[in-house]
Amino acid sequence: MTNSILKIDYPHSIQLLEQMASESIEKGPFTYVNSGSGAESTLRANVSAFEDWHIVPRVLNDVSKRDASTQILGTTFPSSFAIAPVGVQSIFHPDGELASARAAAHHDVPFIASTLSSYSLEEVAANLGNTPRWFQLYWSKDVELALSMVKRAEEAGYSAIVITVDTALLGNRERDLTNGYSPLKLGKGSANYLHDPVFLSRLGSNPSSDDPDVIGKIVDVIFNPSLTWDDLRTIKNHTNLPVLLKGVLHEEDARKALHYGVDGVIVSNHGGRQLDGCISSLEALPSIAEVIQGKVPILLDSGIRRGSDVIKAKALGANAVLLGRPFVYGLAVGGEQGVRHVLKDFIHDIDVSLALTGFSSMIQVDQSIIRKKN
Ligand SMILES: Cc1cc2nc3c(=O)[nH]c(=O)nc-3n(C[C@H](O)[C@H](O)[C@H](O)COP(=O)(O)O)c2cc1C
Repeated sequence: MTNSILKIDYPHSIQLLEQMASESIEKGPFTYVNSGSGAESTLRANVSAFEDWHIVPRVLNDVSKRDASTQILGTTFPSSFAIAPVGVQSIFHPDGELASARAAAHHDVPFIASTLSSYSLEEVAANLGNTPRWFQLYWSKDVELALSMVKRAEEAGYSAIVITVDTALLGNRERDLTNGYSPLKLGKGSANYLHDPVFLSRLGSNPSSDDPDVIGKIVDVIFNPSLTWDDLRTIKNHTNLPVLLKGVLHEEDARKALHYGVDGVIVSNHGGRQLDGCISSLEALPSIAEVIQGKVPILLDSGIRRGSDVIKAKALGANAVLLGRPFVYGLAVGGEQGVRHVLKDFIHDIDVSLALTGFSSMIQVDQSIIRKKN
């Protein structure tokens, strides 16, 4: 397809798009999105896990009209997926999250904004029109700061808070370390901090986004390794928004999530960027679905690359999925137009996969159409 504005021939395969992204941006940012932690075994397993399961399609059902949508916590996901929270997007394209937010709005795809965005959550919201948005929170060591971000998210129209719980510390990302590349240390994920009244009140003077001392203070407070389940009470006491946990992989943690009144879980290993050697998301899904028993929605990310992956995740118990790296490659290649291209292709692929599975509605997809490879 030729893009009319940028005259870019976008490929229709994620592998080719990834290749194009590697040629479009510097090695540091490309490696940052492309790599995983450690030996990258979890990164690979996330994708290969989808090949361990086969769809067994049904035939001669009328599939002339199709509805791929799902309702999650009052939000319509028109194609049963949302944009995953991805931080520091300005390292991929100067417009960063503003470009991906506009592309999401163009295709009406729900958007999850990261705490570590290059633009503030208010600026991102302003580019989303009426498109549903959730806010992903890295629960800071500074509790008042975390709660201030939640309040700002409420005011900017975000309708759920996604707390990422797999990031007590940053994973050991060997390729980034080899490149000596850390976007956080370059201040690329600072916008939400530099727009926060609580964070600003902690600084003596007017901050500049490239002041190493200010960046150091941000990096210091992003993650909170001392968080426990009881801390969830604090956030539940401070917001009426639904709270989801992102990064749940163990079924006992799914049970605890229910116990602590969490409103949804996101089965994720952060795209193989945190603990290398940990279970792939798809492999973890069935036992979590068994515990959750439909009491709260389950979302899944890590390894979602095409429409049939969405069908497989749905069949194994997810209500919806999140799209991560593929949209970032689109952003790197062509900014907003590149993300639009990825979303358009993905939405089409989901629709075709639903029809060829033999269903006219995503709601019909269940475990009867999936089998584990022998
Ligand atoms: C470049 C990059 C930045 C990310 N930043 C965040 C983030 O700020 N917060 C978060 O919860 N997850 C973050 N993630 C994880 C994604 O939300 C998602 O879990 C992951 O991309 C899924 O794996 P996949 O893209 O391989 O499918 C990031 C992922 C990538 C690739």
